[in-house]
Amino acid sequence: MPCVIAAHAGYCAGVKKAMETAFQAAREAREKGIPCYCLGEMIHNPQATFALHELGVIRVDDPTEAKEGIILLRSHGVGPQVYAACSAQGLDIRDGTCAYVKALHQIVAASEMPVLLIGERHHPEVQATAGWCRTECRVIENIEEAKALPPMEKALCVCQTTYPMEAWEGITAILAKKIPGLEKKCTICLATARRQEAARELAKKADAMIVVGSKMSANTRKLYEACLALCPRTCLVERAAEIPPHFGNI
Ligand code: F3S
Repeated sequence: MPCVIAAHAGYCAGVKKAMETAFQAAREAREKGIPCYCLGEMIHNPQATFALHELGVIRVDDPTEAKEGIILLRSHGVGPQVYAACSAQGLDIRDGTCAYVKALHQIVAASEMPVLLIGERHHPEVQATAGWCRTECRVIENIEEAKALPPMEKALCVCQTTYPMEAWEGITAILAKKIPGLEKKCTICLATARRQEAARELAKKADAMIVVGSKMSANTRKLYEACLALCPRTCLVERAAEIPPHFGNI
């Protein structure tokens, strides 16, 4: 049976860059005999985390747990107070923040207007982005919250980079009716949407689909569910060894 790899499969550009930064820093720390820390998990992928761990990378949840050496910041980005805390610890920062997330930080930091940030309130990217706002920042998770927003004269509206486009369009349509001076900047990165679209196209035609990714990743789960809806013979695995025996026998 021929095996077809979906277009856009693999790491997005942001995660690829973050992992390259991490491996380079880990090797450098090893050569210099200094510790290399990672603030949180570099990416939600157990194999990648294990590979970094094997290279000596130590996970910390707060910069104060790190003592000198290199510290890796992941692609989700962090707020300015985290950079300050890393510097205060004397750490050499290696920044894996995705360029799209960095651009979002710059947009909100430059805003003179209140910021309406559409996204998941507890997502690290949203929390970090809120930290870059110099004006009032309100997070809006869904249509109900957009409807409940008190009247405002003007605001800048931006979005979590991985938020679905339909949700952005629905929420901003409501906000536009309520806020006369609403400025919208769509900061969605299309990498996730492109992956889902390519996987759906393949799932429509394929006899079976194998989704490879972390079971802990929300993006991978969404990809799996999208494929399963179109191709009942879909499995989600983290490693080749997890593919069920006889899976390919139709
Ligand atoms: Fe990836 Fe950056 Fe987009 S991490 S999903 S390229 S926002």
